[in-house]
Amino acid sequence: MCGIVGYIGNKEAIDVVLNGLRALEYRGYDSSGVAYIESNGSGRVVKQAGRVEHLLPGLDQEKSKIHIAIGHTRWATHGLPNTLNAHPHTNSDGSIMVVHNGIIENYLEIKRELAKNGYKLITQTDTEVIPHLIDYYLKRLGSFEEAITAALNDLKGAYAVAVLATAEPEKIYAAKLSSPLVIGVGRHNEYILASDPNAIMEHTKKVVFLEDYDLAVISKDKLSIKDLRKNTLKSAKAELLDYDRDKSSKGDFPNFMLKEIFEAPQAIKSATLGRVQADKGIVKLGGLETVTTQLKLIDRIVIVACGTSYYAGLVGEYLIEELAGIPVEVQLASEFKYRSEPFSRSSVLLAISQSGETADTIAALKKVKDYGCLRLGIVNAAGSTITRLTDAGVYCHAGPEQAVASTKAFISQVTVLTLLALYLSDGTKGYRNLLKELDLLPDKVQAVLDQAEKIKTIALKYKDSKDFMYIGRGYVYPCALEGALKLKETSYIHAEGYAAGEMKHGPLALIDEDFPTLAIATDSPLLEKTYSNIEEIRARSGRVVALATEGNKKIGKLVNDVIYLPKTLEITQPILSVVAMQLFAYYIAESKELNIDKPRNLAKSVTVE
Ligand code: G6P
Repeated sequence: MCGIVGYIGNKEAIDVVLNGLRALEYRGYDSSGVAYIESNGSGRVVKQAGRVEHLLPGLDQEKSKIHIAIGHTRWATHGLPNTLNAHPHTNSDGSIMVVHNGIIENYLEIKRELAKNGYKLITQTDTEVIPHLIDYYLKRLGSFEEAITAALNDLKGAYAVAVLATAEPEKIYAAKLSSPLVIGVGRHNEYILASDPNAIMEHTKKVVFLEDYDLAVISKDKLSIKDLRKNTLKSAKAELLDYDRDKSSKGDFPNFMLKEIFEAPQAIKSATLGRVQADKGIVKLGGLETVTTQLKLIDRIVIVACGTSYYAGLVGEYLIEELAGIPVEVQLASEFKYRSEPFSRSSVLLAISQSGETADTIAALKKVKDYGCLRLGIVNAAGSTITRLTDAGVYCHAGPEQAVASTKAFISQVTVLTLLALYLSDGTKGYRNLLKELDLLPDKVQAVLDQAEKIKTIALKYKDSKDFMYIGRGYVYPCALEGALKLKETSYIHAEGYAAGEMKHGPLALIDEDFPTLAIATDSPLLEKTYSNIEEIRARSGRVVALATEGNKKIGKLVNDVIYLPKTLEITQPILSVVAMQLFAYYIAESKELNIDKPRNLAKSVTVE
C-alpha cells in the first residue's frame, strides 16, 4: 500500500528516496513520485502512473546537488491510478509539496470550504486538500509551522504526511495520525523518514517512531517533535531496531513468495525457539510474563485480524478452546470496529497481524482502549504500531515477509497460537505429545516442500479452471478458507472455502465437471464424514484433488488426484495442509506468468480502513 520516504542530509537525496521507495515496492502500489528543493530554492515534483524505475528519466541532471527530498508510492483509494492523482500533491504555485498515506475522511467538506475561498483543486484525491489548506493558513497565520499545525488539526481520518515547502527549504515537516511514520537518525547529520522501517534500514537502525498527533520538524542536524494537541515540544525517543537485512533478499528463488513458502520449517523453529521444552512439558512466553495474573482471570478471548491472519485466528479458536477451554470468538477487524457488542473487562482482545500496521486491526484495538480489558498481540514486525498499542504479546519471529500473499507468517501465527493455547491451559505437562510433535513439525513440513514438483504437476492439471472449491472439517476448515484465499490472490481464479459439511446447504449446486474441489481429507475423527462429502461432489461430476495422510489407501479410489502429507496430530495438521495449498496456488500462478509477489489490486500492508 502507499509508502512515504523522505531524506535530508549530505547524501544525494533523490537516490536515497528512490532506494527507499524500492524497498517499499513489496507493499504494492500503482504510481510513484518525488518532490525536492532545487539548489536555487525552488520546488520540483516528478511523478507518474507506474513503477519507481520510470521516474528516473524525469529526474534532474543536477541530482548531486539535491539534499532534501520526499517520495511516495501510491495505492489508489480516491481517484484513478494516473499521473495527475499520483503524489506529491502541491498548492497552486507548487511551493508546498505533500505526500500522504491514509484517508482524509472530511476532504470533501474541506474542498468545498477551499473552493469558497477561491482555491481550485485539480485532482480526484483526498490528499490534495492538504497543501491547499496549509497555503490557506499560511496566508493568514504567517508562520509555516503554525499553518501546518492548523491544517493538520482540521483533518479527520488517518494520515502520515511529509511536507516540503520553498518557504522553509531546509526542513521536512512530518506528522501522523493512525498511520505509521518512523524517522531514522543517520550518523552524519542526516534523517531518513519512512512509513515502513524497511526503507530506512540501509542507512541506520536508530529510529524514532512518531506517535499520533506528533508533528516532527526535521532539519539536517536537528529533529524536534511537537504534540499537536498540547502545542508543546516533546523529547524524541530513539530506539534500535533489531533487523536482519539478509532475510529480506530473494536469494536463489525466483520470487519472494516461493522463498517464503520454503521458509516454513524455519518459521516454526523460530516461533518455538527458547519457548518450548518438549521433554519437560514446558511452554514459556516471555512476552506475556507481565500479564500472567490478569490472564488467570480472563473468561473470553476475542481475536481480531484481517486476511490470512484472520484465518490463522480461526485455527486459534479451535486450538484455544480445545487446549485451554477458554471461549474464543474470531472477528474480522473491519467488522469489529463498528459493532456494538457487550465487552467485559474479563475479555481479552487479541490482535493477530503480520505487519502490525493493518488499519482495521489497529482501529479494533483503539476501540477497546478505554474498556479496561487486556489487549494482546501476535505480531511479526517488531516495533510496529500494533506492538505499541497492546499491553503484551508474542512475536512470530518469522523474519520479513515481502510477498503480498502471506505464507510463512500464517505458519508462524498458527505455531504461536498453539503455544498460546498451551500456555493458557491448566498444565502443559499433559501435552507432551503435542510439544514433541511441534519439535518434529519442521521436518514434516520439509517433507511437504520436497514434494513441490509433484504438487506442481497436479496443480498444472487445474490451471485453466475458472472456479475452485476448497473444503475441510474441524481444524482444517479454516485452512480451506486460507487455501482458497491463496488461489484467489495469486492466480485470480475464483475460489471459495467451505466447511465440507456445509456443501449440501447450497454450494453443491455450483459443482459440475468445470468446478473442481480441493478437499482436505487428512486423518481425523471426521474423515469418514469428509469422504461422504467428497462422494457427493464426485456424484455431480466434480473433479477432486485431495490432501490426505500418507498411508491412506482409500482416498486414491475416491478422487482424481492426491497430495499425501506426513502423519501428524490433528491439531498440527493445519500447518502441513496450508503449506501444500500455498505451493498448489503458487504453481498455478506461475503457469499463468502472473506477478506473483505483487498481485494486481492488492497491497501487503493495508494501512487504510
Ligand atoms: C493484506 C495482505 C494479506 C494479509 C492482510 C492482513 O490484505 O495482502 O496477506 O493477510 O493484509 O495483514 P496483517 O499484516 O495484519 O497480517
